[in-house]
Amino acid sequence: MIPKENTALNKETEYLHQTIAMFCCPKCNGDLKAAENSLDCVTCGSSYPIIDGIPRLFYSNEWDTSQEDVTDKMKSFYEENPFPSYDDFDSAASLIDKARQGLFAKLLDDQIPFGTRVIECGCGTGQLSNFLSIANRTLIGVDMCINSLKLARNFKDKNSLDRAHFYQMNLFRPCFKPQSFGLVISNGVLHHTSDPYQAFVSIANLVSPGGYILIGLYHKYGRLATDVRRVIFNVTKDKFKFLDRHAVDEHISSAKRKSWFMDQYKNPHESKHTVTEVLGWLDKVSFKFVYAIPKTVPFVNIDESERIFKPDKLGNWFDRVIVNTDMIIKGHKEGGFFIIIARKPKA
Ligand SMILES: C[S@@+](CC[C@H](N)C(=O)[O-])C[C@H]1O[C@@H](n2cnc3c(N)ncnc32)[C@H](O)[C@@H]1O
Ligand SMILES: [Zn+2]
Repeated sequence: MIPKENTALNKETEYLHQTIAMFCCPKCNGDLKAAENSLDCVTCGSSYPIIDGIPRLFYSNEWDTSQEDVTDKMKSFYEENPFPSYDDFDSAASLIDKARQGLFAKLLDDQIPFGTRVIECGCGTGQLSNFLSIANRTLIGVDMCINSLKLARNFKDKNSLDRAHFYQMNLFRPCFKPQSFGLVISNGVLHHTSDPYQAFVSIANLVSPGGYILIGLYHKYGRLATDVRRVIFNVTKDKFKFLDRHAVDEHISSAKRKSWFMDQYKNPHESKHTVTEVLGWLDKVSFKFVYAIPKTVPFVNIDESERIFKPDKLGNWFDRVIVNTDMIIKGHKEGGFFIIIARKPKA
C-alpha cells in the first residue's frame, strides 16, 4: 500500500502541474515551470525548491535601506510562535465544529460564491484555509513562516483535505500572476508588516475583475484596552494575566492560550488602523466598499442572516464616530479587530 503522505505528495505535484500557469517568479514575474523538486523561472533562471511538500517561493523585499523592513523580525517571531495553535483540533470534524461556532468563519463558509478560487495571504497555520476547503472549494494558503505552513500541511494531509494547498510566499513579492483569484483574504496580517498600505496594494493586485478582497486589521480605538494590558503585563512580568479572558480561559488548551498571549502581547511589530483610512486605500486602487464587521453604521448587530458579499450601508462620518466609540467599549473583546470586504469593479 502507498503510504498516505506519498499519496498526498503525488496529488500536490499533480495540482502544481495543472495550475503552473497561474504562478509567476517572485523575483522577476516570469513564468515558472515545474521540475521534479523545484519550480524554475523560465526568464531569470531562479529555482525555488519544494521541501517537505511545500514550494519555497519566498523572495525577500528589495527595498531601499532607508525603508524599515520588519519581515525578518516577524518571520523569526512566527517561526517560534506559529499562530494559531492547532491544539484543540484532532480532526476535520472538530475544526468544522469550532470554526462554525464563530460567526465570521460561518458567514464566509456559507457565502463565498460557488466556484471562487480563494487565496489566504498570511494564512499562518492554515486553519481558515483548511476549514474553508472542506466545502468543496479550492483554497490556497500562503505565508512566510515555514513552521506554520508545516502545521497547515500536516493537518491537510491527515484529514485528506485535497483542495487546500500551501506555499511559502512573501506577500510583498507574490508568486501568482495578477488577477488570479476571485477572493483574496488577509486576516490579521497587514498590520504585522512595515507598510500595510503597500502590502494591501500587492495582494489587491491578485484579485480578478469583479472579485473581492477581505482584510482584517487591528483597530486604532478597539486596540486601546489591549495596549493598556500590554503595558501592565510588561511592568509586572506577566502577572495579572486574568486581565485577558482568552489568556486564562480553562476551556481552551494551554498551547492555544500561550499562542494567543504571545501574538497579542509579545509581538515585535503591529500597527493600528481605522475604517476611514482603509476607505482611502480602496479609493486609490478603485475598489468599492462592500461590507464591514463591525458594521459601519451604529446600533446594528450582525447575525447569520447577513449577506457579506452584498453592498452594505457605509454610513457617514458621525456614524463612524459612534462606531469608533463602541470599539473602545466592546471591540477589545476580540483583540480590537475589524474586517472590511471590498470589490474590484468588473473590467
Ligand atoms: C497573526 S498571524 C495570522 C494568521 C491567520 N491569518 C489567522 O487569522 O489566524 C500573522 C501571519 O502573517 C504572516 N506574515 C506576516 N508578514 C508576512 C509577509 N510579508 N508575507 C507573508 N506572510 C506574512 C506571519 O508569518 C503570520 O503567520
Ligand atoms: Zn524570474
